[in-house]
Amino acid sequence: METTQSDVRSEKFPRKPSEAMDADLSKMGNNLVTKFHVLMRISQIYDSKNVALQQFTQESLQAINTMIEREGNLSLKVVKNDLYLNDQRLRYSVEGFTSFKYLVTQWRKRLIGEVIFKGVVHEEILKNFIYLMMHLEEGHEENATFFNDELAKRDIFMIEVGPLETLEGEDEATTFRREDQREVAKKVFFETVGTIKEVITNIKGKQHADVRKLKRLAQKAVHLVMEDESILLGMTTIKNYDEYTFNHCVNVSIYSLAMGRRLGLSRKILTELGITALLHDIGKSKIPREVLNKPGPLDNEEWGLMKKHSLIGVEVVLNLKQLGEINPRMVIGIFDHHLKNDPSGYPKLFRKKEIGLFGRIIQIADAYDAMTTPRIYKKVPYTPEQALAVMLRERSVHFDPILLKMFVGLVGIHPIGSLVLLNTHEIGIVYKPNHEPKWMDRPQVMLMARDAKGYARQEVVDLTEGDGNGGFRRSVVKTLDPNKYHIDIAKFFL
Ligand SMILES: [Fe+2]
Ligand SMILES: [Fe+2]
Repeated sequence: METTQSDVRSEKFPRKPSEAMDADLSKMGNNLVTKFHVLMRISQIYDSKNVALQQFTQESLQAINTMIEREGNLSLKVVKNDLYLNDQRLRYSVEGFTSFKYLVTQWRKRLIGEVIFKGVVHEEILKNFIYLMMHLEEGHEENATFFNDELAKRDIFMIEVGPLETLEGEDEATTFRREDQREVAKKVFFETVGTIKEVITNIKGKQHADVRKLKRLAQKAVHLVMEDESILLGMTTIKNYDEYTFNHCVNVSIYSLAMGRRLGLSRKILTELGITALLHDIGKSKIPREVLNKPGPLDNEEWGLMKKHSLIGVEVVLNLKQLGEINPRMVIGIFDHHLKNDPSGYPKLFRKKEIGLFGRIIQIADAYDAMTTPRIYKKVPYTPEQALAVMLRERSVHFDPILLKMFVGLVGIHPIGSLVLLNTHEIGIVYKPNHEPKWMDRPQVMLMARDAKGYARQEVVDLTEGDGNGGFRRSVVKTLDPNKYHIDIAKFFL
């Protein structure tokens, strides 16, 4: 195991998130964004001479200047869909959500990514700034330069703007965003389930299986995971009992991609990992249905057959010509996905073999998904929390402990889809884990209200939100079992 651990350590880990912002600054930042939002809107209705504007300008000025006096300068930056205040992520309060969204959207449209106030500003300067900003042509590449030139013409040097930083693959991302990411994620998810079903059925029937589509879908999934992993992770709560095999492959792929992304794997390798995970159980297509779906325990012969599926999988994949060039790590990933560090793994080998990175990733994703999904022989599955507990208990034998630790960090102490009871007596579903290590127990939670028809979704709240007295407004008291409450978790992610 030592060598496997060092393999992982040598991979590139993402940068450590910056320390959480102090409550005062966060409050001031939220206030500033709200004031900006109002001013930007008002400026689109009235011209700059209108008296109605004055009050709002004054309020914004106060917000800006208070902060400049405290911090020296003020930078507000858009990174993806988040705002950073002096390089620290600014978390929005529930009430602040609309303002945040408005500001980020308006800046993004104009390709403005950052605004820096280098000193105290006064009314005329701020008005000039806001009107220039709102009159920028949308989508114009040179906007930031033009903006700075216009400010300079007006002798305004204490405000500087920067262009929106486009990240790798951003163009495609913008198209995606337009269509609504969640809709795209849903489409990719269901299309992948359908395609993997087709592939498995064709292989079973010894027919030609078109895997090019699978490759394209894996590329799209990689893209989505890079953008916002929580949307696809939410889809893994779809635990379709009838379509277990197909859903399972897709879920394992999503978990694997999210882990791979955290390891800093390139898009190319991530796509390979995604495909490998989608096909990890492809060998089962050659195992009789009676064995696969047997409600009771398998006898020796049946187990023997079942244990062959990773080796059969290798054979099947090597025959899938349309996959194009197959990197050995894909084949090895499939071969390795049930190897263990003790004799409980399979296939049986004459010599001890190290488990490759793909195999180690898929093992964790595989175990977690299998445990949290109802199966014919275990109708009530583990809750996400119970599954993680079992895996952590078995970590030294069955999993790569470092990767497992990363996985727990990824899904959170309360994984996406967990049903939780809050100290406010509200019930909610974990909607988005918090990835900052110190806030791992403070995810975003979708509150649920019960009416005559059952449970209905309400707003999404952030458990890092303060109560104004240095504490938190809401905290998780305990995890509940959705099966006992007859709640279909997946419904809330669609
Ligand atoms: Fe398997
Ligand atoms: Fe599996």
